[in-house]
Amino acid sequence: MKVCVIGLGYIGFPTACLMARAGHNVVGVDISEERVNNINNGSFLLNEPGFKELFDSAKKNIVAKMNPEKADVFVICVPTPLKNKTPDNSYVESAANAIAPLVEKENLVILESTVMPKATHESIGKIIENKTSLKADTDFYLAHCPERAFPGNLIFELVNNDRIIGSDTEKGKEITKELYSSFCKGNLLLTGTVTAEVAKLSENTFRSVNIAFANELALLSEKLGINVEEVISLANKHPRVNIHTPGAGVGGHCIPVDPYFLVHGQNAPLVKTALEINESMPKHTIALLKNALHSAGKNIEGAKVVLLGAAYKPDVDDARESPTEKLVEILVSYKSNVVVHDPLVKRFAYPVVSDIGSAVDGADAIIISTAHSEYKKIDWNRISKKMNVKPVIVDGRNLLSSAPPEFIYKSIGNPVQ
Ligand SMILES: NC(=O)c1ccc[n+]([C@@H]2O[C@H](COP(=O)([O-])OP(=O)(O)OC[C@H]3O[C@@H](n4cnc5c(N)ncnc54)[C@H](O)[C@@H]3O)[C@@H](O)[C@H]2O)c1
Repeated sequence: MKVCVIGLGYIGFPTACLMARAGHNVVGVDISEERVNNINNGSFLLNEPGFKELFDSAKKNIVAKMNPEKADVFVICVPTPLKNKTPDNSYVESAANAIAPLVEKENLVILESTVMPKATHESIGKIIENKTSLKADTDFYLAHCPERAFPGNLIFELVNNDRIIGSDTEKGKEITKELYSSFCKGNLLLTGTVTAEVAKLSENTFRSVNIAFANELALLSEKLGINVEEVISLANKHPRVNIHTPGAGVGGHCIPVDPYFLVHGQNAPLVKTALEINESMPKHTIALLKNALHSAGKNIEGAKVVLLGAAYKPDVDDARESPTEKLVEILVSYKSNVVVHDPLVKRFAYPVVSDIGSAVDGADAIIISTAHSEYKKIDWNRISKKMNVKPVIVDGRNLLSSAPPEFIYKSIGNPVQ
């Protein structure tokens, strides 16, 4: 098949390569000239296991361009961010506008980007219908094939995960299945477009709601004087219970984002409440800090506070939607003197230091904001000696198995000490 992939980012580029390796004739399109040039000269490679080998075996069948061209199948993999907590469909619409003049009878348009319910038809289908004389599901076909690959294991998961194929016509399902079965080893699960859209959004929304429940248990446990980790570990011994982990906030480009696509324009009170609970956790973490500083006879105003971790999850260099950003904002609003440490993150909204010794020098408090493995090995006695008297730790990830004796220690969901 001739396939035109729109959006050569973290998902679109490896997907285009997998299609090219399977023998399809692939034109990849991106609005970034730099990205297009770097792909064509082989200098843009994803830092993912197996990507280099994939690219080497795919490159003879793939070319990157700045404008789309006629194809049998168009695959849209452009960003779908939030703007003021509202889904921003503008990239998807702009991609649909760009391919509309090229779509011909019997073509298939696949949307891989995460979207709100009905967007496959209402954004892409309508735009193409309005710009051509073609009718969706009659003259050309639409499909939604959401992506669920995990950064760090991307290529393996793109190939091996089960995939949802949503299309409202038999022909749309058939062509999409033919294309994806050429490079996917997982099961291809056929359904309608809206079901596919909602199923994709349900995956990360389930995790958001589960984390919110864990956070609610943490807040209850603090009031009841019990330990939330013990509560959850005991409850999870039930063979059908799997409560997630509470913490200082939820980050990443999926779990804090996807629920907003599901609730947009819908009556979904449980999901909305879960978002509110999760988004309140940075504020709660700072309340624990204020309380601990108060016990040390200090104020949060002017205190030097070190945040350990800018990444949104342990042992990665990815800080997208990291709750550390919210923690910094709140601390800055209190006029604290904030230092962010991370051993891996290079790009963050605030300066990041990688030397922990200088970061904690003269500090009053530490907040553990990311459970990096490196932080489990810290010699807290040595660190305490570099800090001011009555040093404080607020463990936002329940990383430490016990409170270091040199510190006033508080953690999420544990009895206030
Ligand atoms: N990254 C993930 O792990 C992941 C996982 C599941 C789902 N998704 C979803 O996949 C979609 C793509 O995400 P990503 O991580 O690949 O994004 P990305 O930001 O890495 O890449 C998107 C690319 O699209 C390009 N682009 C933007 N508008 C364009 C246009 N009109 N025409 C051509 N190119 C355009 C950008 O220049 C960029 O190179 C999003 O909807 C995302 O939610 C991502």
